[in-house]
Amino acid sequence: MRAVSQYQDIISNHFEALALKNEPKNLYEPIRYILSLGGKRLRPVLTLMAAEVFEADCRLALPAATAVEVFHNFSLIHDDIMDDAPLRRGKETVHEKWDVNTGILSGDAMLILAYRYFESYEPETFQKLARLFSKTALEVCEGQQYDVDFETRDDVTIPEYLKMIEFKTAVLVGAAMKMGAIVAETSEENASAIYDFGLNLGIAFQLQDDFLDAFGNPETFGKQVGGDIIENKKTYLYLKAMEFAQPEEKEQLLHLFSIQPHDNTDKINSVKRIFTQTGAAEATQSAIQEYTLKAFQTLDTMNISEAKKIILRAFGDKLMSRNV
Ligand code: IPE
Ligand code: IPE
Ligand code: MG
Ligand code: MG
Ligand code: MG
Repeated sequence: MRAVSQYQDIISNHFEALALKNEPKNLYEPIRYILSLGGKRLRPVLTLMAAEVFEADCRLALPAATAVEVFHNFSLIHDDIMDDAPLRRGKETVHEKWDVNTGILSGDAMLILAYRYFESYEPETFQKLARLFSKTALEVCEGQQYDVDFETRDDVTIPEYLKMIEFKTAVLVGAAMKMGAIVAETSEENASAIYDFGLNLGIAFQLQDDFLDAFGNPETFGKQVGGDIIENKKTYLYLKAMEFAQPEEKEQLLHLFSIQPHDNTDKINSVKRIFTQTGAAEATQSAIQEYTLKAFQTLDTMNISEAKKIILRAFGDKLMSRNV
């Protein structure tokens, strides 16, 4: 297995050289735009890493890794429409730069394009990958629907929230890794273990995403800080704050999450103060650690070399301490 930076280089070079059609321009330019903004490329890197964990050359996994990343970018275009987000990776979102209709159709095209990358595999592998992908993509839609439904509910529970983030985010991280395992033609047991590793890492990842959405540095975060608060998202921060709050704070938080002010500065600051004062921010940090450790426990049960486990653990630790 190689160092993580080598997988990142392979993915980054691969996306730089990715061939896309030109016409119609208003369909393909937004696709080129969102893909060129890069991002962390977390999921395709995990696909390559998983392939090598199970002794295949990671280049065999490149088409599957590309499919996962193109799908992820499709989901971001549509997510930014649904979340009314102005910024992505430090730049204008697709629906702001073009318009909502462009975002919808370019996103649709990316979903189809993603499937196409599986066509380079032999029928048996193709079928396994496509099956996993379809199941995962549908779960992402289900998670996204819960996320939006929860905006207007005030009785969301922590188990409901955890299910929602498992679907909207974690299953794709798990699937990204399982695809590497499928390409490597390893045992079903190994494939399922690496899926669980990715799933728990994905839950930790979304908890961290929620944390950064409120407490990230606007200079470096690349997204609108406080976006979840503006949209009344029922994040872990919010749910824990409601659980820990004194009656007065609780009333204040409920009120803040029922108003749509023209200028959101005060709303964001007041909500963040409650997140900190109640201990919700700290509880979120603990939950991030808890799910990362859960991922590492899966790793402990796996019959792979200690050297590989060290690389995978280091990757998980880095995700936990990220600020973008
Ligand atoms: C953002 O994903 C959407 C979530 C599931 C939290 P990333 O944080 O991986 O976004 P990029 O690809 O690095 O920009
Ligand atoms: C997005 O969750 C999950 C998917 C895109 C499927 P978020 O809405 O929290 O992602 P960001 O914060 O906009 O990247
Ligand atoms: Mg969003
Ligand atoms: Mg969203
Ligand atoms: Mg977010």
